[in-house]
Amino acid sequence: DSLKIFAPATVANLSCGFDVMGCCLDTVGDEMIISKVAEPGIKITKIEGADLPMETHKNVAGVAVEALLQKLGKDVGIHIEIYKKIKAGSGIGSSAASSAGAVWAVNKLLGSPFSPTELISFAMEGEKLASGNAHADNVAPALLGGFTLVRSYSPLDVLKLNTPQDLFMTVIHPQIEVKTSDSRSVIKHTVPLTKAIHQWGNVGGLVTGLFTENYELIGRSLEDVIIEPLRSILIPEFQTVKEAALSNGALGAGISGSGPSIFSLCKGIDTAQKVASEIEKIYTKTGLDFDIHVSKINDQGI
Ligand code: HSE
Repeated sequence: DSLKIFAPATVANLSCGFDVMGCCLDTVGDEMIISKVAEPGIKITKIEGADLPMETHKNVAGVAVEALLQKLGKDVGIHIEIYKKIKAGSGIGSSAASSAGAVWAVNKLLGSPFSPTELISFAMEGEKLASGNAHADNVAPALLGGFTLVRSYSPLDVLKLNTPQDLFMTVIHPQIEVKTSDSRSVIKHTVPLTKAIHQWGNVGGLVTGLFTENYELIGRSLEDVIIEPLRSILIPEFQTVKEAALSNGALGAGISGSGPSIFSLCKGIDTAQKVASEIEKIYTKTGLDFDIHVSKINDQGI
């Protein structure tokens, strides 16, 4: 028994929703082949496209599957092949794709004992290994598709939101590595009440905008007054890119996950492509290597 899957990239936070909101992309992702074998135990048998640990307990896919099998109380044999296309440290959920993809496929091979929502907590073990923090805002959209909201971490309560059909994401990835653990260390751990009020107003606005498919409301809610001002200094040309995106019709723009990728959410593919070409011009001038892609929101997930 063997399954070949597409493990999609994701954009976490979506400006105002630090650690709670995220969405799933459809043109960028890894490939994985997961097989059920006779000999018990989890083995990472192949990794292409990245220099990542092959030892099961050091690999995010390995620990995520371990958590699933432990909960199930079954000693089955699983082989995992990973073909990485999402670069580590890019800010579009590289570790989440591997963790979520692995648990999704193993669950399927075992006859789907868990629902996609139940798989989130296993995939979070991979995120814990990758960044020291078991955040769910990348694994949830990878597993459920579309836009997701972590309503609560304890107890875990994750909701799938609505996906307006005309939303496209332009993502620029400057080829510098920003480790999630490093970009988490620049964040302050206390928030003044005035900023908290500003931020949760926007989260409510973004959720409402997604459900009512009010693109203008989505746009004005994509604002982050807490994390972005601190993290954006790690990203070359962040302000210039953001201003170019907005002046060329993007609904909103911000840091993708923990960076350095920058996302622009757009209504319609033409706007997304126009924004991509304007951002490309800015980044070409910097002399830095980068890649840029346009993606529809993937409402399906893995
Ligand atoms: N919410 C996490 C962070 C996502 O911003 O640190 C990491 O990709």
